[in-house]
Amino acid sequence: MKHIWLDCDPGHDDATAILLAIHSPNVKLLGVSTVHGNTDAQNTYLNAQRCLYAFHAPEDVHAYAGASTPLLRPAKHDPEIHGIDGLGGVEGLPTAEHPAIRARIESANATGHYSAIEAIAEAVRRVGIRNEQKVTLISSGPMTNIALFVSVYPGLLEYIEEIVFMGGAVGLGNRSAVAEYNILCDPEAAQIVLNAPVKKTMIPINVTHTAIVTHAIHCALLSPDNPIREPPTLPPADTKLRHTLSTLISYFAKSYKSTFGFTDGPPLHDALTIAYVSAPDMFTCKRQHIDVELNGMHTAGETVVDIWNYRQCDDSWGRDGKNCQVAEVVDVPRFFNLFLECLLQCDKV
Ligand code: BDR
Ligand code: CA
Repeated sequence: MKHIWLDCDPGHDDATAILLAIHSPNVKLLGVSTVHGNTDAQNTYLNAQRCLYAFHAPEDVHAYAGASTPLLRPAKHDPEIHGIDGLGGVEGLPTAEHPAIRARIESANATGHYSAIEAIAEAVRRVGIRNEQKVTLISSGPMTNIALFVSVYPGLLEYIEEIVFMGGAVGLGNRSAVAEYNILCDPEAAQIVLNAPVKKTMIPINVTHTAIVTHAIHCALLSPDNPIREPPTLPPADTKLRHTLSTLISYFAKSYKSTFGFTDGPPLHDALTIAYVSAPDMFTCKRQHIDVELNGMHTAGETVVDIWNYRQCDDSWGRDGKNCQVAEVVDVPRFFNLFLECLLQCDKV
């Protein structure tokens, strides 16, 4: 069983990562922290609470609000993709005023942690030191909180199994010609994390762009036992939860079509981080050296991946200059089986 902490900026695909984090086999979710990103930090926090409740997280799995700005730069939100509040078009989630959401917020506050990184540190101490189990940190947004955690608590890194992040690219971009959104938002934070003396795995857009929610998968999500309909017709949703997820996918599909021209469906970027931790053999990975472009006039936020092993330097992880494992291929049918299985589990609660 892997003990995981999810740092996220929900966000449509972050919401699916929360679902998988709660219901995937082989993982135990310790807590969630939120960061500026797809929308402002207040919204990402509320959205995390709304998802934790709607996806039946145990009551002792709390969410904590983290950084509201990047380390050095102004925050960049992405309403074009996720709507103003980060979960545009998603129906059926409780509102911020819902008594259950109020109760969740109060009970997170009652734990006495004032910041996300303090909450992460406490979970790492509890599980790592007292129970002798390492913690896997997962990042599905800009890496501000993770960079702060590794900087403020270097002594806790020996209890970290791995940092797994969705972000970056090998020779591609999505929010600039060469930069992926999560890294572009806080490049300095990403570089700090890449420098940390701990194992890291990057799930870049080269891989996440293969995990597309096609029409057939959308039909199976709505109703596993119903035959697939001719596009664009969808079957009716079997449960309220499935309706909620279907509205999430439809909105995300629309954004990806209008912004990036994806005609087959949207990619579930962030959910792949949880799949990697739950079933690492679903992925083919290779160790590489990565730096982040911090100063480029046209290239800030690019993950510069040394695929030809040009930079042979001594590094704190691996001692061969390769500071990060990079996912290259995911078994897409296995990934969507896991996704649909988590949905089944969630429906059973
Ligand atoms: C990443 O950016 C956001 O839009 C998504 O939530 C994902 O984390 C993809 O580039
Ligand atoms: Ca995200």
